[in-house]
Amino acid sequence: MASREERAEGAIAIARDVHWVGFYENATRLQCNPYLLVDDDDVVFFDPGSIPDFPKIMRKVLDLVNPGAITWIVVSHQDPDVCGNLAVVEDVLDNPALRIAAHTHTARLIDHLGLRTPIHRVDRHGHAITLKSGRVLEFIHLPYLHSPGAIATFDRQRGFLFSGDLFGAITRNGDIFSTAGFPGTLDAFHQAYMPSNAVLRRGLARLEGLPIRAILPQHGSVIEGPNVRVAFDHLRALPCGEDCDEGGDA
Ligand SMILES: [Fe+2]
Ligand SMILES: [Fe+2]
Repeated sequence: MASREERAEGAIAIARDVHWVGFYENATRLQCNPYLLVDDDDVVFFDPGSIPDFPKIMRKVLDLVNPGAITWIVVSHQDPDVCGNLAVVEDVLDNPALRIAAHTHTARLIDHLGLRTPIHRVDRHGHAITLKSGRVLEFIHLPYLHSPGAIATFDRQRGFLFSGDLFGAITRNGDIFSTAGFPGTLDAFHQAYMPSNAVLRRGLARLEGLPIRAILPQHGSVIEGPNVRVAFDHLRALPCGEDCDEGGDA
């Protein structure tokens, strides 16, 4: 098995067609997880990341696909760690067919990045896109988790939920497949960034019926198999945000 450092050098396949293109952060920064879904005639780039992360992430992306092959960027919400690099990403991709998928409440804010790429407002288009292969990506609105327009994306073909900040964790070992300390690894992030247990429960309820095989969050580790249920149960019972003193410890 490759060492942690070796694995950090390249993209890591979550499945044959889904790749983690992040990198192991030093301990002082929140590690972010951008993903690439490589379908037959479409490539979807999830939460491409921040300006300082851009060179490392883009190198991994370009190791996997030609820039012009990326047809969609999905933005779960407008935070700088999620999509601060959109202006430079669109310049490098330079693909007139490129579209950004986001909720209207997110689009209104990322408009201020001065992008030229059209934004596909998922709430105005049935909360789904159909790729050229017929593969459907469904978007689930997760109000205030932790942004008004936060969305998760469900790829029914794989059973993968790209969950954005929901199910995120602050981890120190950086391993995308680590289960050390799970599910307690979810606590600090949700307590600090999610508004309340009541809001959290409402969002989880919107995801309940989905046949989720794995959760791919924007922070922390991939949650697979039986741990999906463990994570739902754990978060359902977790006080967070205004339930905690001053919104959780920093
Ligand atoms: Fe966020
Ligand atoms: Fe985030």
